[in-house]
Amino acid sequence: MQPQRWRRTGPLFGGALPILVILGLVITYVVRRTPPVAGAERPLGLERVSWPASNRYNQAKVELGRLLYFDRRLSLDGTVSCASCHDPRNAFADPRPVSIGVHGGRGTRNAPTVLNSAYSPFQFWDGRAASLEEQSLGPLTNPLEMANTDTGVEQTLRAIPGYGVRFQRAFGAAEINIDRVVMAISAFERTVLSGNSPYDRYKEGDANALTDQQFRGLGIFVKKGQCSQCHVDPLFTDHQFHNIGVGVEGDSPDVGRFQFTRRQSDWGAFKTPGLRDVEKTAPYMHDGSLRTLEEVIDFYDRGGTPNRNLDARIGPLRLTPRDKKDLIAFLRALTGTGWEQVRAPLSLPQ
Ligand code: HEC
Ligand code: HEC
Repeated sequence: MQPQRWRRTGPLFGGALPILVILGLVITYVVRRTPPVAGAERPLGLERVSWPASNRYNQAKVELGRLLYFDRRLSLDGTVSCASCHDPRNAFADPRPVSIGVHGGRGTRNAPTVLNSAYSPFQFWDGRAASLEEQSLGPLTNPLEMANTDTGVEQTLRAIPGYGVRFQRAFGAAEINIDRVVMAISAFERTVLSGNSPYDRYKEGDANALTDQQFRGLGIFVKKGQCSQCHVDPLFTDHQFHNIGVGVEGDSPDVGRFQFTRRQSDWGAFKTPGLRDVEKTAPYMHDGSLRTLEEVIDFYDRGGTPNRNLDARIGPLRLTPRDKKDLIAFLRALTGTGWEQVRAPLSLPQ
């Protein structure tokens, strides 16, 4: 019985084998030709962005998010967009010490860059938003920023036929609501990444990627300056909150994360900002009080500003003038690529 069966299936199998082999080759070819999971591009030196299950990547959504990000009509009086304070021409940060919203509304904090915010477990200087989706709702309705309301945004966008088509493509339905607006904007932000800096190329094994001066600066960043205790590779942040003594003088200082947690240890503590592209995001610190990297280094060299909650890791550094120059040269080696092609759209949906 056994041999019988073999004889029966034998020729069949024999005939199928070449077909199976060809099929296998075709599948291998197709798999190899297919680009990696879209939205999972990874600039050199960075992790892949993890997209939340509730807001998966698709190209139409990212493109819609880009339009919304640059669209001033989302603000109450049509004068302010996300890009007004996070302009790609300024490395997605704001060159003004504090941002100015509709009707000249003036906040108290400097706008951080949106670059690499995809990796941040906390948004805002005090970390009060846990996701980009949650974060984007803030400025749309903040009276000092875009001053709109959820329904205001929805009504404006519903009255623009060109957006219906775009929402259809992005979400499979033309329905426009505030949740989808923030999902699209966040999807766009998750593609605004900066890596592939000289530092990343150096780490990847290119010994010539850093100049001698930058290499000395790296040494100071890690040892004498103790910077890497908080500005941890690869994003140059520990995603924690520290009081380094910025803006602690005066009668009513910004209490930072304390306002949110009410823990004394958070008094005057702010999120450690990532340092990628830092040479392009002046002015610095949560209040935009330091104008240049030179001023920042002098601030650390002095030991910050002593106050009742100064982080134990902050103290006088006794850097030489050469140390300071080297350190700044190293910070410039963190300027990356991957985002310069992101520009304002030439036209917006009508
Ligand atoms: C009027 C200026 C202004 C506008 C308009 C504005 N922002 Fe901001 N943005 C800021 C300021 C200031 C902060 C810091 C506020 C804080 O930490 O309390 C901030 C913080 C952020 C952060 C957190 C970054 C981090 O590292 O913590 C993100 C992301 C962001 N904004 C994205 C957006 C998006 C998206 C829009 C449009 C929907 C927008 N912003 C509109 C000024 C603005
Ligand atoms: C104890 C943790 C800690 C250490 C150590 C530390 N930093 Fe910071 N750094 C921070 C925090 C927190 C902020 C934001 C403070 C604020 O705005 O109140 C910051 C802000 C900065 C900024 C401004 C970035 C921006 O976008 O505004 C630069 C530049 C910087 N640090 C560089 C350095 C350098 C260089 C060193 C070493 C000499 C260093 N840091 C050491 C925690 C630290």
